[in-house]
Amino acid sequence: MEFTNKPFCSNPKISRVSKSFYVTTPIFYVNDAPHIGHAYTEVASDVLARWHRARQENSFLLTGTDEHGEKVLRTALGNHTDPKSWTDKLVNESWLPLLETIDIDNQDFIRTTEPRHEVAVQKFLQKLYDTGFIYQGSFVGNYCVGCEEYKNESDLIDGTGEFAGVSVCAIHSKPVEQLNETNYFFRLSEFQQRLLDLYESNPTFVQPESARNEVVSFVRSGLSDLSISRSKERFDWGIDIPWDKDHITYVWFDALLNYITAIGYGSDEEKLASLWPADVQVVGKDILRFHAVIWPAMLMAAELEPPKQVFGHGWLLVGGEKMSKSKLTGIAPTQITDAFGADAFRYYFMKAIGFGSDGSFSWEDLSARYNSELANGFGNLASRTIAMTNRYFQGEIQGPKNYTEADLQIQNVAKLAVDGANAAIDKIAIHEAISKIWTLVDELNGYITTQEPWVLAKDEANRGRLGTVLYTASEGLRVLAVLLNPVMPKAAQKLWSALASDLGSLETQNLNDAGSWGQLKPGQMMQELEALFPRVEEQ
Ligand code: MSP
Repeated sequence: MEFTNKPFCSNPKISRVSKSFYVTTPIFYVNDAPHIGHAYTEVASDVLARWHRARQENSFLLTGTDEHGEKVLRTALGNHTDPKSWTDKLVNESWLPLLETIDIDNQDFIRTTEPRHEVAVQKFLQKLYDTGFIYQGSFVGNYCVGCEEYKNESDLIDGTGEFAGVSVCAIHSKPVEQLNETNYFFRLSEFQQRLLDLYESNPTFVQPESARNEVVSFVRSGLSDLSISRSKERFDWGIDIPWDKDHITYVWFDALLNYITAIGYGSDEEKLASLWPADVQVVGKDILRFHAVIWPAMLMAAELEPPKQVFGHGWLLVGGEKMSKSKLTGIAPTQITDAFGADAFRYYFMKAIGFGSDGSFSWEDLSARYNSELANGFGNLASRTIAMTNRYFQGEIQGPKNYTEADLQIQNVAKLAVDGANAAIDKIAIHEAISKIWTLVDELNGYITTQEPWVLAKDEANRGRLGTVLYTASEGLRVLAVLLNPVMPKAAQKLWSALASDLGSLETQNLNDAGSWGQLKPGQMMQELEALFPRVEEQ
């Protein structure tokens, strides 16, 4: 078979559409309610999408649910219901509310049971069948229903406890099932060289570097064709194969397509062209191969461009293992947000764990960071600066007089924080972006301690200097509100409302310009600040 590198879009009308920043989360299995590991993926993707929106770019975040397949079907039956009622219930009662709980600003939510998805998946399949990328064959293999994936011997480990003596999936610690079926295959093996070329020509296609290396060596070792259908004799919870109604589509082949079916594949080419290729697809490292190997090959077969980047993040661990509901180690996001709020949830997971590495959650660590970094570090800085402006100047923002070295240093740190955080986001180092922002929080706290505005306030002769110090601190807070908006939207909004309501809404501030000094207007009035991080009672 011949492969051509056709341009993605040869229609001149379509190529004129301006491209938005497009970020996706994986779509979540609805076999159970979400835990904080799922919320982690959502928050990271949302921070990236919001960051680009704060740069005044069009930014589109897609998330959704993966509803077909044996795993979901078995769970539904185990709960004495049918899969459609089960998925409707779980999506409405658990997965959509999760977005509110952790403050996700998604532009769409796709369910793989929606007609818009099912119809487009069938179009895609038919296209690949017609062009010879799909053929009929037979296969014997070890299947893990938890992963919804055939496993190689090297993916299996010796079972323990009730499964001692049998091989189990290394991720789910449960036995695999031997399947022997006639079904349809995608010619994945033919894409080995094109995938290797992709990794070479776009070295940041898979990130972080460790993930890239793993994917490259996996593809170098050779690829087998992929079974992409299941016989209805086994189960029928899936999308019909359009040319053979005795088979349904393999759940992963169906699920991966959500990233284009949601944005108009097969129905709205203009919308598709305005978003695809995705700028970054965020996934957990357990599902990296699907996204960095199978998915780009599927797209190549359909003559679509691969995404620009797939980022594989680490796991939230419990006792050294991936947190999971099936191992009863899942913690519901509301357990954390009910006590600490959505902002603290978002901040904590994005700051405490290097994005791309595994990390452990602990209530002690969360509580300690909430108190020291959020309440005392940032919250207190905001409340005392605004309170002093209210107390000493009845809330009126003062015009700065001669800037001293100390004042200029704040301006410099603010600018470096904006540039550094922006650069960190561009390499998807979310933790690093927050650390850069925090250099300004720390610098401002040190500045207030050394400038002692409460001492300046005691002598009328220092009034000009007092105004300059409070102006400098307030400008620093303005920069922080803009920078922290993608991470902690609620706190940033409260701060903005108190500080700078006359500058227009926070959403209209261009993050790229946040570091240019002197935007707060002297003579304008500050408002009272709502508490940003209230005290959390020990439980
Ligand atoms: N349905 C598939 C994805 C299909 S995408 C076309 C799936 N679903 S999942 O619900 O099992 O997982 C969704 C995401 O949550 C994955 O990125 C996975 O890595 C992430 N996480 C699940 N548990 C996690 C942790 N304990 N820690 C961090 N992320 C975790 O896979």
